[in-house]
Amino acid sequence: MELTQAVTQNQGAIKKPEEVTEPDLLKLGNHVVIKFHVLMKISQIYDSRNVALQQFVRESLQSINGLIKKEGTFSLKIIRDELFLNDQRLRYSVEGFTSFKYLLTQWKKRLIGEIIFRGEVDEEILKEFIYALINLEEGKEENATLLSERFANRGISVIEVRPLEILEPEDETETLNKENQQEVAKRVFFETVGTIKETINQIKGGQYADVRKLKRLAQKAVYLVMEDESILLGLTTIKNYDEYTFNHSVNVSIYSLAIGKRLGFSKKVLGELGMTAMLHDVGKSKIPKEVLNKPGALDGEEWGMMKKHPLTGVEIILNLKQLGEINPGIVIGIFDHHLKNDLSGYPKLFRKKQVSLFGRIIQIADAYDAMTTPRIYKKTPFTPEQALAMMLKEKMVQFDPILLKVFIGLVGVYPIGSMVLLNTRELGVVYKPNPEPGWGDRPQVILLARDQKGLPKKEAVNLMETDEGGFFKRNIVKSLDPNKYHIDIAKYFI
Ligand SMILES: [Fe+2]
Ligand SMILES: [Fe+2]
Repeated sequence: MELTQAVTQNQGAIKKPEEVTEPDLLKLGNHVVIKFHVLMKISQIYDSRNVALQQFVRESLQSINGLIKKEGTFSLKIIRDELFLNDQRLRYSVEGFTSFKYLLTQWKKRLIGEIIFRGEVDEEILKEFIYALINLEEGKEENATLLSERFANRGISVIEVRPLEILEPEDETETLNKENQQEVAKRVFFETVGTIKETINQIKGGQYADVRKLKRLAQKAVYLVMEDESILLGLTTIKNYDEYTFNHSVNVSIYSLAIGKRLGFSKKVLGELGMTAMLHDVGKSKIPKEVLNKPGALDGEEWGMMKKHPLTGVEIILNLKQLGEINPGIVIGIFDHHLKNDLSGYPKLFRKKQVSLFGRIIQIADAYDAMTTPRIYKKTPFTPEQALAMMLKEKMVQFDPILLKVFIGLVGVYPIGSMVLLNTRELGVVYKPNPEPGWGDRPQVILLARDQKGLPKKEAVNLMETDEGGFFKRNIVKSLDPNKYHIDIAKYFI
């Protein structure tokens, strides 16, 4: 729903500020963050008289003033790595992630912690405010005061800017409980996607990439997988077409970690496996975009480039500034990730070697994610069930048979994210595997029902539930292809 629409729809019913419902505020918050991001971005390119900029300022004002009308105040605040709109924590959305990240980084650089508008502002003031904000000197402590005073001195008292509060980082892994696991998992997921993107862009730009942040994120992911792997596995249903490489690298890490956990790896080894998986395709950063995103088949030369990426990846890793963060297991895993079980993959070897365990794990995770994600040359991906069936056909790709068995045991008969038809004629999405061993065909399911606003209801049903006669109330009849029903499965996991 468009913001203006949201505002008008709500206006009729809302008289008092406290009547703004939480979901409305969160939705508005996401819109406002995206608007702020674009405003800051375009004000760096255009001067204040530019038509496109003026149009965008007007649109943004509708959002901001709409909110002020209803809530009395507009306050956007940073606490640690979170954004709060009128004291309500905003959640990352897939579309909004880049904007969240941009705002956090840009405000933090300028030591701005909170922006408050205590009344409606007009176009000129908003424009001036954005230009003043973008032109603040980075790292200057007085920035917030200077910005507030700039307007106060002219009798404009509606604007207040507060400095960034530097707080000790919270140790998420220690404060993790069942309720916030889902939120922490989402944050770790999106942050990892963003950090991989940053790392790859640094490499592309010829800069030294900093992998310390990736290492910290890998450790958080390990903790989450150890606690409850199904939360992170659910997030792998987010298939972001535009950000394929980054999303893919995160998904491959999640699957690999889940396999590693089943194999009984220690946290330390899992952390290394996570890093290897995050960086497995880093060599692709040297392949031209046109080749990576080519809709048709690759020609000989292009294939040659493609086949080099494991080796290029190794070179990049060995050139890292913080080589201390990297160990031989990571380097070998990256080198091996396309060597099939019978060494028929690439790079070509001059002498036989055993494919490393990291390499063999990543091959499985890599193939499964690639097959279940839409690509430019295959817009409709395979369903989880189809992908597993293809992987089992040994002739197509050769995987380590034991690890493949572990993986199938892990994703289950009905993998997380499968769409299923129940005997009650209800449609559902597999949300979590059944925790009881031996009941793989009775996972936890969310019904595909929608509320009045058209949002997923997220109503969970337990397939173990029985009626008075002791019969199961619901059974899965078969899996369905969500693409045929135009259903975005990821919406059920975020
Ligand atoms: Fe690869
Ligand atoms: Fe890959």
